[in-house]
Amino acid sequence: MKNIVIAIDGYSSCGKSTTAKAVAAELGYAYIDTGAMYRGVTLYLLEHNIDFEDLPRVEEALHQLHITFKRNRRTGRNELCLDGVIREDDIRQMRISNSVSEVSVIPAVRHAMVRQQQRMGRKRGVVMDGRDIGTTVFPDAEVKVFMTADVHTRAVRRQMELAVKGENVPLDDIIHNLQKRDHIDSTRAESPLRRAADAVLLDTSHITIDEQVDFVLERVSSVLVDA
Ligand code: DC
Repeated sequence: MKNIVIAIDGYSSCGKSTTAKAVAAELGYAYIDTGAMYRGVTLYLLEHNIDFEDLPRVEEALHQLHITFKRNRRTGRNELCLDGVIREDDIRQMRISNSVSEVSVIPAVRHAMVRQQQRMGRKRGVVMDGRDIGTTVFPDAEVKVFMTADVHTRAVRRQMELAVKGENVPLDDIIHNLQKRDHIDSTRAESPLRRAADAVLLDTSHITIDEQVDFVLERVSSVLVDA
């Protein structure tokens, strides 16, 4: 069967990664969480006290840091590694969520990440989720889905995810963070978050995860039947 690229873009906390992961498992494809890569760069800059506006130092950091994924055999999850060390829990903390959009507007950061993502998907057979996969990273992706959901639903989901990890954050703080990130992500000059003309819209406010996964798999089947 032909290997394709499945691009899942959209707003934060719409269920992109849960959907993408399940679709990848169903098809035996690789799953690449591109948001984790921007979070990894943010963690590196913060830990090395590099000012986001100090472009020469940011560029130097991009040459130094190594972002990879390691599959956790127990959970089946791809975990982000920074310089070979698993940092999955660290990159999900609120302090990273609060800064990641500022880092992901930096053109040098985007260029480096997009190049690496294109290398990772060059053999196709991948599900990639992010903000600019269908528009910039793989404009030729065979399946493109753009996910959205109302901000309250997204905030409740994010609050539960954080609570499971022991971080209790007030709902208002999360709503504020999501709105701020939506704004920065969709108004930045370099590859802003937007729906590709040929992406199908999926509103996840009132549907279950199984329904989201089925929706994407149906798109995949129709593309493969036509291929
Ligand atoms: O998917 P996420 O919430 O983990 O992504 C974190 C941030 O990374 C998000 O606020 C915007 C940025 N991002 C991006 O600019 N481009 C991508 N392809 C993925 C994420």
